[in-house]
Amino acid sequence: MRIVKVPLGLRSYPIKIGAGMLARLGEECARLKLGSRCALLSDSNVGPRFAKLAQQSLARAGCDSVLITVPAGETAKSLKTVQTGYNQLAAHRLERKSFIVALGGGVVGDLAGFLAATYLRGIAFVQVPTTLLAQVDSSVGGKVGVNLKAGKNLVGAFHQPRLVLCDLNTLATLPKREYRSGLAEVIKYGVIRDAVFFRRLERAMPKLLRRDPRVLAEVVAHCCKIKAEVVLKDETESGLRAILNFGHTIGHALEAVSHYGKYLHGEAIAIGQVAAARLSQRLLGLPERDVERITNLFRRAGLPTGVKLNVSQRQKVLAAMKLDKKVSGGEIKFVLAGRIGKARFGCPVPAALLEQILDPQPSTRNNH
Ligand SMILES: NC(=O)c1ccc[n+]([C@@H]2O[C@H](COP(=O)([O-])OP(=O)(O)OC[C@H]3O[C@@H](n4cnc5c(N)ncnc54)[C@H](O)[C@@H]3O)[C@@H](O)[C@H]2O)c1
Ligand SMILES: [Zn+2]
Repeated sequence: MRIVKVPLGLRSYPIKIGAGMLARLGEECARLKLGSRCALLSDSNVGPRFAKLAQQSLARAGCDSVLITVPAGETAKSLKTVQTGYNQLAAHRLERKSFIVALGGGVVGDLAGFLAATYLRGIAFVQVPTTLLAQVDSSVGGKVGVNLKAGKNLVGAFHQPRLVLCDLNTLATLPKREYRSGLAEVIKYGVIRDAVFFRRLERAMPKLLRRDPRVLAEVVAHCCKIKAEVVLKDETESGLRAILNFGHTIGHALEAVSHYGKYLHGEAIAIGQVAAARLSQRLLGLPERDVERITNLFRRAGLPTGVKLNVSQRQKVLAAMKLDKKVSGGEIKFVLAGRIGKARFGCPVPAALLEQILDPQPSTRNNH
């Protein structure tokens, strides 16, 4: 087992990573004295696979759990599900000394965390992430929330979990496309913060794609360490934490324009990161060789590295970006990298350059 500590004073918590951690859930919760009653929140894909193991482990440790299952998918991250959730928590008489366990991907984690942040003005919660994205990203850092019709994650809170338990065995049943999507966030950590880790990923990609347990353990732990470090320096996202959004400005715009249908999050940010690398080359002098290394690593991970947009689609993506981020004088602020492992936030990018980067074949287009 690997342990990564998130040292946030009184709100400190450990991230425990290993194969078979789910069977230890009860024991770990008991160790933290989280209480003898909890709600286990899961979704319709994950619940049938892993909830029994989790509930048995909790029962062995003397903790009585009630299972709440929400439909799988992003639409469950809504105020409607939150309301149903509150009613179920109340019906099962969960009180201040009870806690919530999130067993699932980022959707379940964000939803369960938001319930825990607000039910009875806040109760304890534990993250048991079961997607690669949730293990390396969403379960760490304390951002919880739900979507509104007007946009994603518009209602939320900061509520740190008391424990994050990453059972690498759960990743075995994750669909290939979801797994690869998680790799986009993994690669991101190398680009923004750690050149040595980036090189390690270049070497280990075949094993990582095979979900080799030893490599996975090392990679998940390292990503959590980087995220924890960044969160520690900027818990409420007033500065440095923004670097975690590398590739996300363009990625979010692509997701929004395709109405969250065409791309998984990791696919959209893979395209976004390659575009951000090209912007970095033009504006911060990121070497061409590094742009190629970044592009190649996404390609080898089975992720898209570009998108062909027609003129009207490109305009829509640009408009979505202007909505997403503060714009001043026609410039959008980006996270860019001067070299692999070193990202900077708040870099102004002229709209004209952005348009050029989003246009993969400017010369051929001009000939028409
Ligand atoms: N709070 C944060 O800091 C943060 C950061 C990044 C993303 N997020 C949020 O995370 C969400 C995306 O998370 P996600 O990619 O994990 O999506 P998800 O939770 O929807 O999971 C993806 C799919 O995989 C299924 N699944 C999960 N684990 C499985 C397993 N072990 N075996 C088989 N199927 C499994 C799920 O049922 C779902 O269909 C978004 O809502 C996003 O906004 C939050
Ligand atoms: Zn992301």
